[in-house]
Amino acid sequence: MSQFWKPGAEKPRLLDDEEGGVVFLSSSLSSASSIGYGYASIEKQRQRLPVYKYRTAILYLVETHATTIIVGETGSGKTTQIPQYLKEAGWADGGRVIACTQPRRLAVQAVASRVAEEMGVKVGEEVGYTIRFEDFTNKVRHLSSYLSIFGVIIFVMHAGISSLAVQDLTAIKFLTDGVLLREMMDDPLLTKYSVIMVDEAHERSISTDILLGLLKKIQRCRSDLRLIISSATIEAKSMSAFFHARKGRRGLEGVELVPRLEPAILSVEGRGFNVQIHYVEEPVSDYVQAAVSTVLLIHDKEPPGDILVFLTGQDDIDATIQLLTEEARTSKKNSSGLIILPLYSGLSRAEQEQVFSPTPRGKRKVVISTNIAETSLTLEGIVYVVDSGFSKQRFYNPISDIENLVVAPISKASARQRAGRAGRVRPGKCYRLYTEEYFVKEIPAEGIPEMQRSNLVSCVIQLKALGIDNILGFDWPASPPPEAMIRALEVLYSLGVLDDDAKLTSPTGFQVAEIPLSIWVSGRGAQKELDEAKLRFAAAEGDHVTFLNIYKGFLQSCKSSHWCHKNFINYHAMVVRKAVTAGFFANACYSEAYSQSGMYKTVRGSQEVYIHPSSVLFRVNPKWVIYHSLVSTDRQYMRNVISIDPSWLLEVAPHFYQQHRLNPIH
Ligand code: CDP
Ligand code: MG
Repeated sequence: MSQFWKPGAEKPRLLDDEEGGVVFLSSSLSSASSIGYGYASIEKQRQRLPVYKYRTAILYLVETHATTIIVGETGSGKTTQIPQYLKEAGWADGGRVIACTQPRRLAVQAVASRVAEEMGVKVGEEVGYTIRFEDFTNKVRHLSSYLSIFGVIIFVMHAGISSLAVQDLTAIKFLTDGVLLREMMDDPLLTKYSVIMVDEAHERSISTDILLGLLKKIQRCRSDLRLIISSATIEAKSMSAFFHARKGRRGLEGVELVPRLEPAILSVEGRGFNVQIHYVEEPVSDYVQAAVSTVLLIHDKEPPGDILVFLTGQDDIDATIQLLTEEARTSKKNSSGLIILPLYSGLSRAEQEQVFSPTPRGKRKVVISTNIAETSLTLEGIVYVVDSGFSKQRFYNPISDIENLVVAPISKASARQRAGRAGRVRPGKCYRLYTEEYFVKEIPAEGIPEMQRSNLVSCVIQLKALGIDNILGFDWPASPPPEAMIRALEVLYSLGVLDDDAKLTSPTGFQVAEIPLSIWVSGRGAQKELDEAKLRFAAAEGDHVTFLNIYKGFLQSCKSSHWCHKNFINYHAMVVRKAVTAGFFANACYSEAYSQSGMYKTVRGSQEVYIHPSSVLFRVNPKWVIYHSLVSTDRQYMRNVISIDPSWLLEVAPHFYQQHRLNPIH
C-alpha cells in the first residue's frame, strides 16, 4: 500500500475544542457504545451512549432555557435519545408533540424506526415520521396530495390539505425541516409542538436556515416553546449569538427570565478512537477507479472491519459498485467475502435495511455512500473510510440565473467528519483520495451555507406565504446575497406570483411547493429494462408529454403501485391531485441553425446549452425548446425538455420578454 498511500500527520478530532460559551459536565470515557453492541438489552444499549450521562443536564437546560445548543459526535445518541428523554420527562404530556427535524428524508425514516424499536412501539404510533409524500403519524397514513409529475412550481388549495388533518396522537415526530416549514402554513406558531429539535444544524441546508429564522420569531410569541439546536459540529458561538440577538427584547435587563433567552451550550464528550489518515502521494485523475483499488487493497491487506466509501451521488456510486464487483470477481486475491452496498436517498426500504444490518461473520461490508453517512446516519462496524474529497453541491449564479448541482470539493470540516466515521468501534484508518498538500492548502475550512449558493425562488414564496413581507429585512442565520433575492423577486413578479405590492397574488392560505422531478426509478443492473420502459411511453413532442403518457397509464392501472414497479416508475411521484403548471417560459432556448453539434442558446442570456442524453429529444433537436432544469458537467445540459412554438413565448409572457429587452423570435 505504501506505493500509493502515505500516512499523514493529521489526526481528526471529532469535536473541535470548545469555542467558549457554557460547557456542562464532562466525561473522560470514549464512546462507550462501542463495547459489545448488539448483545445488551435495548435499555443497556441506551445507557451506554455518551449522551446518557448528560440526560439530567439536558433536561435541566431545556427546562430553563428557550434555546439549548447541543454539540456531540456522530453516534453519541443525540437524535435517537434526546427526544426520548424529553418524552420521559413529560414534554409530550397533554397531547403535545416533540419534533425532531432532519435535513434528509432517509435519515428521518431510519431514526424513526430505530426510536420506535427502542420504545417497543410501531412506527406511526407514539413515534411517527413525516417526509414529503409519506406521513406515518397517528396510525393514519396520508399520502400527501400536493405533488406534481411535472416538478414545477405548484399551487395547492390549502383547504384541500387541511381537511386531511387529524388530531395528532404521536408523541415524538421525526420530520424533514422542509415538512415542518410546510406545517407552518397551517399553524404558523407550531402550537402542537412543545420542543422542536433542529438536528444536523451544521449542514445549514436552506430549509434549516429558513426554519431557524422563523423559529426565532415564534419564540417571541411562545415562551412555552423550547428549541434544541443539535449537530455534530457547529459554530456553537455564532449560533448562540444568532438566537441571543433580539430586536426589542421583552423583559428588563438584569431581571432573570424563565426560560432564559440566552442559549445554553452543551458539549457531549465521548471522542471516538483515533483514526490514522492516509493521503495519496500523487493526485488521482479518476476517483471511482481510485476508490475501487483502495477498497480492494484494504480488503487484501487489512484486518477485518467494514469499509465506508464517500462518493457524491447515485451515478458514481453505481459506477463504483459495478467496477468493484467486476474487479473483485476477476482479482486473483480473495475477494469473495465482500458485501457491496449503496447508500443514498431514494433507496428502497429493503436496501436500507441491508446497509444497517450487522455484517455476517467472516464477511466484510463495503458501503458506498453519499455524504448522508457523514453525520446523519451511524453505521456500526466501520473501521476504514475511503474519502473521495467531493460531494454534490448546489451552486447558483444570480446573474445568469443558472443553478447547478455540481461535484465540488468538500470542506475540511466535512473531511474530518468523514474520517471520524472510521473510529467508532476501534482505532481506524481513513484513506483520502487527495494529497495532503491539497487538503492543507486548497480546500476551505467550512462549507458555505446553502442559502448563499441557491436559487431563492421557493424560499421567497414560502416566506411570503407565511406572511413575511419584508423579505430583505428577514433575520437570517446567514444572509443570502442581495442579487439572488432580487432575482427571485423578479422571477416571481414575471410569473405573476407576486403583485405590485410584493404580496402573493393567490388568496392567502395557498401553499406553494417546488417538487423535484424524479419519475424514473433506476434499478441497479437494470438499465436496459429501464430504457425499454422509457421507450414504451416516449412521445415525439417531448418529455412533458411523455410524463403525461405515463400518468395516463398510471390512471388506467387504477393507480397501482405494482404497475409503477413494473415500469420503473416512482410510485410517489404519481400522486397528483391538483397541480398548475406555472410556466417555464423563462427557460426557452433555440438552436441557431440545425447544427450537428446540438448546441442551443438560452433566449435570456445567450448561454450555450445542450439537450441532456436522458431526454427523449436528445438527438431530435427541435428548433425551439423549454427546459425544466440545467445540469452542468462538461457542458450545460438541459433536462426534461419540451419542444415549443416560439410565438407562444410572447403570448404567455409579454411582460417578461419586454422586461429583458429580448426578442425571442429569430
Ligand atoms: O444523533 P447521533 O449521531 O448523536 O446518534 P444517534 O443517531 O442517536 O445514534 C445513537 C446510536 O443508535 C448509534 O450508535 C447507533 O448504534 C444506534 N442506531 C442504530 O442502531 N440504528 C439507527 N437507525 C440509528 C441509530
Ligand atoms: Mg444524529
